[in-house]
Amino acid sequence: MTTAFPGIFSVSDYREAARRRLPKTVFDYLEGAADDESGMMHNRAAFEQLQLRPRRLSDVSRREQSVSLLDRRIPAPLVIAPTGLNSAFWPKGDLALARAAGKAGIPFALSTASNMSIEEVAQDADGDLWFQLYVVHRNLAKSLVSRARAAGYSTLILTTDVAVNGFRKRDLRNGFAIPFKASTRAALDGLSHPRWLWSYLMNGMPELKNFSTDDASDTASQAAVLRRQMDASFSWDDLRRLRDEWPGKLLVKGIVTTEDAARCVEFGADGVIVSNHGGRQLADLPATVDVLPDIVDKATGATIILDSGIRTGADVVKALALGADSVMLGRASLYGLAARGEVGVSDVIEMIKRETDRTLALIGCRAIDELDRSYVSRRPT
Ligand SMILES: Cc1cc2nc3c(=O)[nH]c(=O)nc-3n(C[C@H](O)[C@H](O)[C@H](O)COP(=O)(O)O)c2cc1C
Repeated sequence: MTTAFPGIFSVSDYREAARRRLPKTVFDYLEGAADDESGMMHNRAAFEQLQLRPRRLSDVSRREQSVSLLDRRIPAPLVIAPTGLNSAFWPKGDLALARAAGKAGIPFALSTASNMSIEEVAQDADGDLWFQLYVVHRNLAKSLVSRARAAGYSTLILTTDVAVNGFRKRDLRNGFAIPFKASTRAALDGLSHPRWLWSYLMNGMPELKNFSTDDASDTASQAAVLRRQMDASFSWDDLRRLRDEWPGKLLVKGIVTTEDAARCVEFGADGVIVSNHGGRQLADLPATVDVLPDIVDKATGATIILDSGIRTGADVVKALALGADSVMLGRASLYGLAARGEVGVSDVIEMIKRETDRTLALIGCRAIDELDRSYVSRRPT
């Protein structure tokens, strides 16, 4: 039983609690999206345009939301998405997310841009760990992949939608950077959020820990990751090489077209993550739930995970009914982390599981495995 917090009933309540605790600059980094931010709004609108079609008089006295994902049975169709700079939200944020995921029995994906190293997280967290790769340059990628393998990570995610950095006006206006820049505005922002400031002063400036080991210490690469300036020449042949180097499961993240999804399968990926990075890279991309059914039809046999816009259990049910094998939680789990650390993340996971269970009961479906497209339709406009 996880802690319930007064006044908090939904992920959007956690969003508000996170907004109150974090300095504006840090909340804007968590929340912000690319360009005019319309991509992030379309992600939500696409879920809202879908409605559920209940089946009445079916026996839903027992309900089941466990699913099989990449040959493992997990208690809910949820994965914690890779997110960078988690210690800006809560001290040892990567570990807090990993532990909450481990307790819930769901996978946690560590970002290349994490503030704890691949090895530190593996040492202190139980559960199924995945590693997300940003390719800054090929040799560094090789070393990160072999470290993740040695540390026991089961699944590698290659993120493909960051050839260059998205244009995020909030971060540019705020001068968001690690290390945090000293300015009168930043000092006032910190001072007006004393709970965050205190934990920051006690724990020090977040660092990109994957780059501070002897063999990977490289300030140019750290700066490139912070600017999300990747090796823009990385292409399909490199994916093939990565497939040869990584013996575990391989997922390609950032896929929004049927052609790319089919090609990922052809090049040996075990699955794709249908994602537009939560609208943080390019506003004018499709909402993921809109392209999901076609991708599911084309990428037969592949594992399909969806993210970008998941905030409720009803969203989870819609995505699974349209053919996803699981969803990933991005900002949703970060709101919990920023508000209350590990217990906040656990509470968000439990909340979404409760909402999923209630939604299943109310649409007359006994199990996630029994969902299909007939449970969803488009709202009339
Ligand atoms: C603060 C933040 C940092 C992120 N960092 C990464 C990252 O390092 N690597 C990556 O592949 N995706 C990253 N993402 C994207 C998430 O993995 C995920 O695709 C996205 O958050 C899903 O959208 P949602 O937040 O609307 O659920 C980040 C997202 C956020 C909000």
